[in-house]
Amino acid sequence: MGVPVVNALVRAGHEVVILQRPGSTRPLRRTGVEIVTGEVTDEAALAVGMWGCDAVVHLVGIIRELPRRGVTMQRMHVDATRAVLAAARQAGISRVVHMSALGARPDAVSAYHRTKWAAEEAVRASGLRHTIFRPSVIFGRGGPGPEFVGQLADLVRFAPVVPVIGDGSFPLQPVAVETVAGAIAQAVVSPRDAAYELGGPEVLTYLDILRRIAVALGRPLRTVRVPVGVMRALVPILQRFPSFPLTQDQLTMLLEGNVCMDPDAAYRDFDLAPVPFTVILPG
Ligand SMILES: NC(=O)c1ccc[n+]([C@@H]2O[C@H](COP(=O)([O-])OP(=O)(O)OC[C@H]3O[C@@H](n4cnc5c(N)ncnc54)[C@H](OP(=O)(O)O)[C@@H]3O)[C@@H](O)[C@H]2O)c1
Repeated sequence: MGVPVVNALVRAGHEVVILQRPGSTRPLRRTGVEIVTGEVTDEAALAVGMWGCDAVVHLVGIIRELPRRGVTMQRMHVDATRAVLAAARQAGISRVVHMSALGARPDAVSAYHRTKWAAEEAVRASGLRHTIFRPSVIFGRGGPGPEFVGQLADLVRFAPVVPVIGDGSFPLQPVAVETVAGAIAQAVVSPRDAAYELGGPEVLTYLDILRRIAVALGRPLRTVRVPVGVMRALVPILQRFPSFPLTQDQLTMLLEGNVCMDPDAAYRDFDLAPVPFTVILPG
């Protein structure tokens, strides 16, 4: 979701410097934006990118590990955050806006949530003025990739039947990409330290989301229920194939549900409009 965040920052009148990893193909070139190329753990690139900046927005996150390439949650969430915080302090930056995730906690079953928590702890201990955001699942154009709704839309469109895990009743609170980007753009000048959950105005089950996608596509929804036990047995094996759309961590997090305890705080402290879940189809 780098592109919507950059757009929101530029709209708010900020000059933006992006640290873009080598080989990234995101369409970030636009007026008012400078691009520095480098890995997120590259001290020299971080120093160049942060020079003269007032605040840093840290968005890097992964949902799927590629251990053979050194892409692990420990490295991309915890080590990368520590590198960004150290570089920010070195550059005299006083404020960090950090992207965590709803459900981040120290005793989580998923490595995703545990490492997101460890990264939050590093932010809180950094001595920098900070805002932490914990979004539920993000939807919308130009938003996350690989995008949850887009993946489900492909299933509804192309699969003969759509697998539903268990009874599909686990609740989610989808939040619009523009809400998340708007919150980040305002937080870069916020005077307080805080952590906010970010959710949309509706709590929807996985099955509700599938139904809305089917309606938007004008297709019948043909589902097959896959018992949770079967998914728990299959996913660890199938997640080795990059084209398989679900990892063990994602399965765990879906089954836990992903709903805000305090959905109103961010809407109280920032100028944000709650955006109901909408299915935006390519084109
Ligand atoms: N999507 C959601 O529903 C959701 C919900 C809660 C929290 N979040 C968090 O929000 C943040 C943005 O996520 P997103 O969903 O928008 O995903 P995304 O589009 O894939 O963005 C992830 C960011 O991490 C960077 N990144 C990924 N792998 C990397 C690697 N190996 N080395 C360096 N950088 C790497 C990406 O760089 P490129 O642009 O070059 O690919 C991108 O800037 C993440 O921290 C994620 O955990 C997302």
